[in-house]
Amino acid sequence: MKRSAENVLASYIDALHPIIYIKHFDFKVIDAAIAHVGQGAKCVEFNNALGLIDFKTKSPMKECSLEEFLQLTMDDGFDQQTFLILKDVHKELDNPKIVAYLKRIAENNLYNENYSATVFIISEVTVIPRELENYITIFDIPLPTIGEIRGIIRTFIDDMEIEVDADTIDEIALSLKGLNEFQIKQILTLAYQDGGCITKSDKALILKEKEQFIKKSGMLEIVNFNETIDDIGGLENLKEWLCRKAYIFKELDKAIKFGVDVPKGIMIIGMPGCGKSLTAKATASLFEIPLVRLDVGRLLGKYVGESEENMRNALKLSEAISPCVLWIDEIEKAFAGVGGDGGGNDVTTRLFGQFLTWMQEKENTVFIVATANDISHLPPEFLRKGRFDELFFVDLPNGMERRKILEIHLKKRKKWNENIDSIALIKETAGYNGADLEAVVKDTIERAFIEGRTTITTEDLLQSIKDTKSISCTLKDKIASIQKTVEKIDIKPASRDDKDDRAVIENGVVVGTKKITSTETKKTATTDTKLEAGAVAAVATKPIARKAAYAGLYSSLFSAMKSTQKAEEPGTRRK
Ligand SMILES: Nc1ncnc2c1ncn2[C@@H]1O[C@H](COP(=O)(O)OP(=O)(O)OP(=O)(O)O)[C@@H](O)[C@H]1O
Ligand SMILES: [Mg+2]
Repeated sequence: MKRSAENVLASYIDALHPIIYIKHFDFKVIDAAIAHVGQGAKCVEFNNALGLIDFKTKSPMKECSLEEFLQLTMDDGFDQQTFLILKDVHKELDNPKIVAYLKRIAENNLYNENYSATVFIISEVTVIPRELENYITIFDIPLPTIGEIRGIIRTFIDDMEIEVDADTIDEIALSLKGLNEFQIKQILTLAYQDGGCITKSDKALILKEKEQFIKKSGMLEIVNFNETIDDIGGLENLKEWLCRKAYIFKELDKAIKFGVDVPKGIMIIGMPGCGKSLTAKATASLFEIPLVRLDVGRLLGKYVGESEENMRNALKLSEAISPCVLWIDEIEKAFAGVGGDGGGNDVTTRLFGQFLTWMQEKENTVFIVATANDISHLPPEFLRKGRFDELFFVDLPNGMERRKILEIHLKKRKKWNENIDSIALIKETAGYNGADLEAVVKDTIERAFIEGRTTITTEDLLQSIKDTKSISCTLKDKIASIQKTVEKIDIKPASRDDKDDRAVIENGVVVGTKKITSTETKKTATTDTKLEAGAVAAVATKPIARKAAYAGLYSSLFSAMKSTQKAEEPGTRRK
């Protein structure tokens, strides 16, 4: 264990913390730390299988239960400073007698001047009986810093007598960040066994191993995906924003030195089936990092403090696999009731607070993508600027976006052709969301197959549109309520032409589409001026030309990213 951590442990003992709970699986590391901080103290150890054992030699001394052990050793602290070391006893902590013994030792330690015994409970699981809450101090062993990881690697390569250059050590150290000493050594051994050396290509192995830890923990889920940013139709504002952040992420080292803040994350709020989840996946693909999903419901436990600990562990784990995208889907459901009057669940409120603090303080490369439909019940502090880098609203797709979405799904199935009349389709699909449009495409293709046709016509698509009920009909109340809520908050539209040919919904019913008017055109042009001066003329007149102008902006960002990638050595990871 690191010297600084040992100092903290020593300060707890000096300050008479009577019971120190160390959450760790590697008893060797903890034994070494206790031996180091407790020079001169008498160490008495209890092992769940063997009873009383010799702390130094680990040989059994007396077979006994924990109750008998505590009875036997309770008074040990009168002659000399004593450490009572209890390992893997978490399951016994609901026994009232054990709790009573521990309380007595703790009180003696605190109030009896002639008594000095500190209890260490070491286990991988934290169980804190309510009666002992005020006596127990949880000691969390901090994860090694980059400097310490480098030290661990150097010791390892010295032991193995292999040569590894400083550049490789730096890169490997960065990708091992977030793991504990034991896990780092385990991975280094694996990498060494696979080729007798440590090279930059071992980063792939490290990532795989990190994924294993995540799977084992069961608290986060690794999401596999094939979606890319090109699979999203429309949402140009959102996509452009993501491209900018992706560029920073790829050049993080340089960006930080230049004074750029590490991107924190994004909140995407909006209509169902309009591409929020799709964007979460596309973000991970654009950033070229893994996507892990945090399901808050999974973290809820039945013991006091268990949920909070699960949340702490889940967040720590996300840091372990970082750089990564941490996706919290339907966040309004995850934190339902928080801050509400009366009905709010205490545990959820605490988890929410914990998450906010972590977000506020985080200085890691975990990029959060939170998605939500209805935010009317989300606490306002969540939406405050500074938590997320940006909040975006995903509305039902406008005309151009509907055309693009249909095109994407037809192309995906190799059924797009130039004769398809997009204008006719745009007119008939006001109020349809992305998922509806995908359903239309699927239905059309299925019919064509059954009827033995090889190409898709506009008429086929129009027929399927007629037969597919749009979300604006099926979920009209929900749509109306989401629209009402977002009107009240300061949020960026994810789409570029926010007003162009968008479905007009009154009282939850699509009453038509709204064409862009000349005053609105001007408004759009002014906003866009800030983004891309050269595109302004196109914005005001020709949407297609404008799109091309933005496509230019994307491609310049993409090519900048690509050229940076090329400049790096093959297989190297961004810092
Ligand atoms: N903008 C879009 N471009 C292309 N396809 C889209 C778009 N929006 C939705 N789709 C299609 O609809 C499907 C559902 O979209 P997605 O899961 O992203 O919706 P969502 O906004 O997360 O909805 P929910 O609020 O119900 O979770 C996607 O898998 C995709 O095929
Ligand atoms: Mg979704």
